[in-house]
Amino acid sequence: MRQEDPVATHAAHAAPDADTRAMRRAIELAARGLGSTSPNPVVGCVITDASGAIVGEGWHERAGGPHAEVHALRTAGPAARGGTAYVTLEPCNHTGRTGPCARALADAGIARVIYAVSDPNPQASGGATTLRAAGIETASGLLADEAEAGNAAWLTSVRLGRPHVTWKYAATLDGRSAAADGSSRWITSAESRADVHRLRAESDAVLVGGGTLRADDPHLAVRGVEGAAQPLRIALDTRAAILPTARILDDAAPTLLVVGEDADTRHLTGVELLRLPLHDGRIGVQDLLAGLFLRGVRSVLLEGGPTLAGAFLEGGAVDRVTGYLAPALLGAGPAALADAGIKNISGALRLDITEAVRIGPDLRITAVPVPVTPATKEH
Ligand SMILES: NC(=O)c1ccc[n+]([C@@H]2O[C@H](COP(=O)([O-])OP(=O)(O)OC[C@H]3O[C@@H](n4cnc5c(N)ncnc54)[C@H](OP(=O)(O)O)[C@@H]3O)[C@@H](O)[C@H]2O)c1
Repeated sequence: MRQEDPVATHAAHAAPDADTRAMRRAIELAARGLGSTSPNPVVGCVITDASGAIVGEGWHERAGGPHAEVHALRTAGPAARGGTAYVTLEPCNHTGRTGPCARALADAGIARVIYAVSDPNPQASGGATTLRAAGIETASGLLADEAEAGNAAWLTSVRLGRPHVTWKYAATLDGRSAAADGSSRWITSAESRADVHRLRAESDAVLVGGGTLRADDPHLAVRGVEGAAQPLRIALDTRAAILPTARILDDAAPTLLVVGEDADTRHLTGVELLRLPLHDGRIGVQDLLAGLFLRGVRSVLLEGGPTLAGAFLEGGAVDRVTGYLAPALLGAGPAALADAGIKNISGALRLDITEAVRIGPDLRITAVPVPVTPATKEH
């Protein structure tokens, strides 16, 4: 999956502890940019001087602002000369809204650059070649899996040309997303709900289907996360049946209503609309994602409900699953996931659990689909 840069030495093996520590710190710094750098990646950078002491740190804080390397070089000043730069992503090679980082590192007298992941963006890649040409020792691959995971949204969007999708749900231990009477507030604890606001703040957009829109009248804005950028709130509403008083239409955050191409929207003034063709009466998942990508959306938090989540899974459009499991049982009521086109046990979508943590009384499980290889397909 990951593309390695042929001009850089592979640094993943036998990395000295100091290199690993510095790169891990760079990954931590990169995460501070989640939610504010889109459509750019999150990037962290640590600079050590010639003796190996950390003299500079930085991260890409917001789209259009200086890149991580530039921030780190500024804090390092002359101490960068003869030192090492640890960067979570291959330093860029192009002049966009800011100058090329490969050039900035060379001009600062950096002797060695270690980066975790190669840049898959054709416009920006080639940084390693430039560094080499400037006589800088260059290596790639150190903590690449951790750095990839931290940048999953951006890497997925560049590689696939569509936003990265996290499906988030809340369920009881027996997998119910609502009770038999349809009531679903609140399955999980206040702590879990606060955690969901953090997930929203890290996403470019939050999405719900028409069923959830009508049943819950959700607000979907971020509350209680200091300095958070509000995500775009999106609802699929095929026939534009939404009431003008719906909470999602307030001005707490931007909102996009996705409707069928022939929907009558005359009652919706001042609401941003995305009109898409219908397939069997439904908005196509791929059309939707393509439209969102064109609009600059690089990460989507899909908040349900079960029908829409099933359509996304059937379309191969779920990159990460985050489930909040409450220690409660319902025994009846809708399942967290409706039909996803899976007919038998061999068709089960297998996941790798990447994290399991307690959130208050609940359990938060994060998982990613197991990559499909010829071997896994056979069984
Ligand atoms: N526990 C949880 O995590 C959680 C999260 C969210 C919701 N819920 C609960 O789930 C229930 C609602 O879920 P739901 O399954 O009925 O509805 P849903 O998944 O929220 O929305 C499905 C609706 O979205 C619209 N839609 C448009 N294009 C679609 C497509 N390609 N695929 C699927 N849907 C498409 C259709 O409505 P239109 O034709 O009207 O556009 C469709 O009926 C509520 O009770 C809510 O409380 C639970």
